[in-house]
Amino acid sequence: MAEESHAVAGAAMPRHIAIIMDGNGRWATKRGLPRTAGHKVGAETFRKIAYYCKDIGIQYLTVYAFSTENWKRSAEEVNVIMLLLNRYLHELMELMARDHFRIRFFGDLTGLPPKLEQLAHQTDDVSSALPKDYCLVNLCINYGGRDEILRAARKYAADCAAGTRKPGELDESLFSSYLDSAGLPDPELIIRPGGEFRLSNFLLWQCAYSEFYATDTLWPDFTTDEIDKAIAAYARRNRRFGGV
Ligand code: IPE
Ligand code: IPE
Ligand code: MG
Repeated sequence: MAEESHAVAGAAMPRHIAIIMDGNGRWATKRGLPRTAGHKVGAETFRKIAYYCKDIGIQYLTVYAFSTENWKRSAEEVNVIMLLLNRYLHELMELMARDHFRIRFFGDLTGLPPKLEQLAHQTDDVSSALPKDYCLVNLCINYGGRDEILRAARKYAADCAAGTRKPGELDESLFSSYLDSAGLPDPELIIRPGGEFRLSNFLLWQCAYSEFYATDTLWPDFTTDEIDKAIAAYARRNRRFGGV
């Protein structure tokens, strides 16, 4: 069935979209370029898609930029990705107030190069002073869903040991408040460009009832039309949440 090519309004519109920005390396290899060239173009795609999502009224956008497993790549590739993140955070800090964005980080920032960690904290500080109705972009860097759950479990255990929490009072809502995504609604829609049908350790807790949309388009080729298509597909889904 042909998919609608325009975004939909109202209840069918997700509040929170999450994207696994995959396919940069293959995009570059196909063109005879080093993989890092794909990351550079992919970073531009991120900029374009973030502004589009904000413009169509998406309140929360969560993007997977670097996983806890991506350290397995060559030092050269990792360095270029860290440099790009550095450059983009500097730029975003300048633009957030003007363009009505806020930035938050998911992931273990302590595992990042110290300068990048510091920059992330500065970006966080600038963001927390901005109005809460600005579009919130969650950048997942050194992020893994399992790692996020483990870090939350450790914090909860520490609170129990300190006597401020009791093991028996832990429920889903309280546990959620210990995650990187504390206070945010779960993503209704997860988009994966790059042709793979897997989560690759993304938002394991939050995706329990997310709708999944995969496309073969590689992330550097990803366009705003693809966002419209994903939202239109989402609007046609019958979300039952275990009911009938
Ligand atoms: C996604 O693109 C970016 C990161 C994981 C950092 P890839 O680099 O995974 O691109 P492919 O999947 O190898 O094409
Ligand atoms: C997922 O892509 C991580 C990011 C997009 C940051 P990967 O390329 O790392 O995932 P796999 O290895 O194909 O599962
Ligand atoms: Mg990949």
